[in-house]
Amino acid sequence: MQTIDALPGWRHLAFDEVDSTNAEALRLAKTDERGRLWVTADRQNEGRGRNGRNWVSEPGNLYASLLLIERAEDITVSNLPLVAAVGVYRALKPLFPRAPYALAIKWPNDILVDGAKINGILLESQMLDDRVAIAIGCGINCAHHPDDTLYPATDLATCGKHVTPQRMFSDLAVSMAKTLEIWNRGAGFAEIREDWLRAAVGVGGPVTVNLRDEKVSGLFENIDTDGYLRLRLKDGSQQRISAGDLFFQ
Ligand code: BTN
Repeated sequence: MQTIDALPGWRHLAFDEVDSTNAEALRLAKTDERGRLWVTADRQNEGRGRNGRNWVSEPGNLYASLLLIERAEDITVSNLPLVAAVGVYRALKPLFPRAPYALAIKWPNDILVDGAKINGILLESQMLDDRVAIAIGCGINCAHHPDDTLYPATDLATCGKHVTPQRMFSDLAVSMAKTLEIWNRGAGFAEIREDWLRAAVGVGGPVTVNLRDEKVSGLFENIDTDGYLRLRLKDGSQQRISAGDLFFQ
């Protein structure tokens, strides 16, 4: 098993408990941090989900945030949510090599096992002079999952895969490092986009996307080079969507 120790330049800070590993990573960014730092915790007492939702974070699952610090002009942040999805997908894929479980990416970065969500990814960023600090927060359900979610959820143990958060973290750190290397701050996104599309479910079909204040429905035509979803609406027009919650019709 390859671990983060085999990744020169990457570091890991492990906590028993924090408010949120994303929040901790962004606090560290304001010190003399250089980035390429993973922050993990056994438990989060204010775990953050997308769109201001709470992320239930009891021990047993993986809570990990990767802090990147880059010169703002050197990096394309808009497609990073899809890059993160490919990183998590690749970490999980060896656990699901064949049927009966089908692993797929749901736009932008949920990984589904037989249609149920097994992870969550939340990207948050802040400017530091001419640099940008980005926390790529990854939650992977290893041992348990909540029942009262917007989208049906599952966990690795329920799928018969008994993997500790520590083991899952090692695989994630290795996979994310490789994926980010290919991405190359945005220059290599074309290759990641192909990987994303190969793993994706729902492209070409009818979907509804919940935006902050409205819902839009249409045909999920494609993902563009910025990582935006291209939705063909009923009136024939096209809408580009950068973020939202996607539901299949
Ligand atoms: C989602 O709503 O799907 C995104 C959930 C992201 C959860 C992870 S757990 C590690 C990191 N720290 C947080 O507070 N949130 C992210």
